[in-house]
Amino acid sequence: AKVAIFISGRGSNMAALLYASQLPEAAYEVVLVAANDPSADGLQLAAAEGVHTFALSHQGMPRADHEAAMEKAARQAGADYIILAGYMRILTDRFVKRWQERMLNIHPSLLPKYPGLDTHQRAIDAGDSHGGVSVHLVTPDLDAGEVLGQMKVAIREGETAESLAERVRYAEHQLYPRILGDYVSRESDPSFLLERVRKLAL
Ligand code: GRF
Repeated sequence: AKVAIFISGRGSNMAALLYASQLPEAAYEVVLVAANDPSADGLQLAAAEGVHTFALSHQGMPRADHEAAMEKAARQAGADYIILAGYMRILTDRFVKRWQERMLNIHPSLLPKYPGLDTHQRAIDAGDSHGGVSVHLVTPDLDAGEVLGQMKVAIREGETAESLAERVRYAEHQLYPRILGDYVSRESDPSFLLERVRKLAL
């Protein structure tokens, strides 16, 4: 499968996805890294690794126009999937529907707990024993699509949001490539194909 990764900043998940795609028998190939911030660190890394990149600031642009330009870049690169990895723009419902079941996101909490921002502080304040990370399908409701996989991360005594975020990131880098690989591989699973044919026939 061919994937376009959308980022807004550091791009450490993008890097984990990219390097995992270079392992033998990887199920996906990164055909584009695109950002809504031309100064996003991850863009430079992707370019240095020889991956096609696209950058367009969203500033002063209507949301739908900006995402249409991002989408066009993804399509031109031949992407079958859009992978959000620290992409900090909310997408319109129309866009999300066009990519339904072909767009994944990673969120730094054990969904359905703590959608939105400040997830680590909220988990610590609630006295939770664990924080964690979820990979989910993107639907029009924020952080509410089907969860494809999760990893728990213990919260220690004296944990700060920063220290927890750092460890959660290690977990993210393990989880995202694995879940993405499994997800795109479903396309070669006979029972999945049968289900798809059934849906088309209805
Ligand atoms: C990650 O914590 C991810 O869960 C969240 O944004 C952060 C992105 O980090 N959605 P990076 O840009 O991948 O380093």
